[in-house]
Amino acid sequence: MPEHARIRSLEEYHEAYRRSTETPEQFWAEVAEPFTWRRKWDSVMNSDMAAGHNDWFQGARLNITENCLDRHLSTRGNKLAIVYEPNDPHTRHLRLTYRELHQEVCRFANVLHNNGVEKGDRVCIYMPMIPQLAIAVLACARIGAIHSVIFAGFSANAIADRVNDAQATVVLTSDGLNRGAKQIPVKRVVDEALESCPSVRRVIVTEHLGWPVHMQEGRDVWYHEEAEGVAKTCPAEEMGAEDPLFILYTSGSTGKPKGVVHTTAGYMVWADYTFRNVFQIEENDIYWCTADIGWVTGHTYLLYGPLLAGATSLMFEGVPTYPSPGRFWEVIDKHSVTVFYTAPTAIRSLMAHDINHVLAYSLDSLRVLGSVGEPINEEAWHWYYTHIGKERCPIVDTWWQTETGGVMISALAGITPSVPARAGLPLPGVLPVLLNQDGSEIEGNDQEGYLAIKQSWPGIIRTTYGDHERARQTYFAPYPGYYFTGDGARRDENGLYRIIGRVDDVINVSGHRFGTAEIENAINQNSHVVESAVVGFPHDVKGQGIYAYVICPEGVPEAEVERQRIEASIIETIVAEIGRIAKPDKIQLVSGLPKTRSGKIMRRILRKVAEGDTTNLGDTTTLLDPLVVDEIISGRK
Ligand code: WTA
Repeated sequence: MPEHARIRSLEEYHEAYRRSTETPEQFWAEVAEPFTWRRKWDSVMNSDMAAGHNDWFQGARLNITENCLDRHLSTRGNKLAIVYEPNDPHTRHLRLTYRELHQEVCRFANVLHNNGVEKGDRVCIYMPMIPQLAIAVLACARIGAIHSVIFAGFSANAIADRVNDAQATVVLTSDGLNRGAKQIPVKRVVDEALESCPSVRRVIVTEHLGWPVHMQEGRDVWYHEEAEGVAKTCPAEEMGAEDPLFILYTSGSTGKPKGVVHTTAGYMVWADYTFRNVFQIEENDIYWCTADIGWVTGHTYLLYGPLLAGATSLMFEGVPTYPSPGRFWEVIDKHSVTVFYTAPTAIRSLMAHDINHVLAYSLDSLRVLGSVGEPINEEAWHWYYTHIGKERCPIVDTWWQTETGGVMISALAGITPSVPARAGLPLPGVLPVLLNQDGSEIEGNDQEGYLAIKQSWPGIIRTTYGDHERARQTYFAPYPGYYFTGDGARRDENGLYRIIGRVDDVINVSGHRFGTAEIENAINQNSHVVESAVVGFPHDVKGQGIYAYVICPEGVPEAEVERQRIEASIIETIVAEIGRIAKPDKIQLVSGLPKTRSGKIMRRILRKVAEGDTTNLGDTTTLLDPLVVDEIISGRK
C-alpha cells in the first residue's frame, strides 16, 4: 500500500494539518507527486472562493484510469481489484484482478469509441450494482467522456431530467436488475425516459438477467455483441487537470436537482488521500463500502478511492435484509472483509432484528468500521461498536457531501479521536468554521453555528453543470469567502465537530438527499392537488421521514376511503416523478396551510406538528388564518 502521505500517528496528523493550512500548495504538491502524470502542473491551487472558482494542479495532464489501473499492473496485476457479491447468495460471485479489470475497461472503452463517444461527451449510466457498472464508469473516464451515473431507483421522469440537463448522447443500461426478492426491468424504465430525450442517439445494453427486452432499431445495441472481437487494450485519453470527470445530480433547497461537476486531478488526489488515511488501508485489506455507485459515496469510496490506492473493493448487488437480516454479516465472513463502510439507516434497520442474525457470524476479520450519509445516533453507534466491531474496531463517522468530493471531517481510524455522535476533527486541508447568521465567525470551542469551509481543497465542487451561477449562488454567495455546506454543526469542548443536520430545505431520508421543493413539485403534478408543503420529521430508522401536507381542490373529503384513494394516487405520482425512494411516510390532507399575510408558508409550524411537538408553536398571530393550525393539529397523522 502506498505509504506516501500516510498519517500514522496523532503527531503526524497534527503536523500534516498544520502544513496543509500554512503552506497548502507545498503540502498538496507533495501529496500529488507519486501519481502518474503525463505532464506536471504549473501551479497547485488557484482559488477565488467568492466567485466559486477553484482550480487545482492547473496545467497538469493525466488520465485517472492510468492511476487506477495501469499504474498497479506491474506490482498488483494479479491482486483482486473487485470482488462482486450478487444479490442471491447462491449464484456465483465474481472476482476481477487489476489486470482483468484493466482489460475489461479497455474493451468497454473501445466499444464506446466504436459507438462514436468522444472526449467531453456526456454518457448517462443507469445500471445495477454489477461489475459491468464499475467497468462502464471507468471506460468513460478512459476516453475522457463525462459520466453521469443515475441511481437505478430513480423513475423514468427523473432519468429524463438528468439526461436532458446534461444533453447526454449515450445511455448505458442493462436488461434488468435484482433488488432483494424483486426484479426490476431497468431497460423498460430507460425506454420510457428516452421518449423525451432527443439528445440520445445510442443505448448500450448489458445482459444481466437474461430478460428479453425491446431493442429500438438504430438506437439500441447489446454490449456483448458490440464487444465481440474488440481489443482489450485502449490508450488512455490525455486529460487536462480541470477537465470534467463526472456529473452527479444531487438535491438542493430549490428547483430541480443540480449536476455537481468534479474534475480530474484534484478529485483524484483527494479521493486517494482521504481513502487511505481515513480507513488506514493496508495492502491486504478487503474493503467493503455498501453504497451504490449511483451516489457520491459509491463514486469516491467504492470505485475511485480504492482503485487509486490499489485496494480490493467489494461490490454488493443486493440489500441488507435479503434473504435474511444477517446478509451483511454473512458477506463479511464469506469474503473476510476487514474494513466495512455503511450508512446509519442500514445499521438502525438491522438493529431492529433479532441479535442472533449477528451472532451467527464471527466477524473476526473486521478491523475498521465506517459510517456515512447522516448523523449516527448514539444508540446505533454503540450497537455498531459492540456487536459488529466487538469493541475492537474504531468507527469513523465520516462527514462530507456530494459537493466536497471526499471526506472532510472524520476520525482517521485508530489515530484521531472517535467519539459517539461526533464526526471528529477535520482532515488535513480542511478548514471548517462555524458562522453566525450574519456571516461572522464564531470563535472557540463549545459553540454551534452554520458549518462553512474557509480554504479551497482539491475535491471541492467546480461548478453545477451548465449553470455556474447556480453553484455560485448556492455555495459561495451566502457567505462570501467561504464554501457554505448547508449543515449546522457544533464544535465540542475538545474541538471535535458534531454535525447537527441541514439548516436549509434539504431533508436526508435514509441517507438520500431530497429538496422539499422537489417533492412538492412532484406532488403538485397530481390532479387532486392544489398546493402542498413537505417537511422532514425524525424517523427511528430513516433518520428523517417525509411528511406531506396537501390541499385538495374540493377540500378534505369526509370519507376515509376517499382520502385513502387520493393519498394512494399522490404516492403514485411521486413514484413516477422521482422514484420509490421519495415516497412520503405520511400524507395529511388539509383545507389550508399556515401562511403569513404575505403568503409565505410557515414551515416552522408544519415541522413542529410533524414532529408531534404541538405545545410550543411559537407566535401564530401573524398568520393569515390562525384557525388552520388547529385543524392541522387535530388531523395530524
Ligand atoms: C449529511 C453523502 C452527519 C449532511 C456523502 C450532508 C452527514 C449531506 C454525514 C450530504 C455524517 C453526510 N454525519 N451528517 N457523517 N455525512 N451527512 O451529498 O447533512 O448525499 O450535508 O453526501 O448528508 O449528502 P450527500
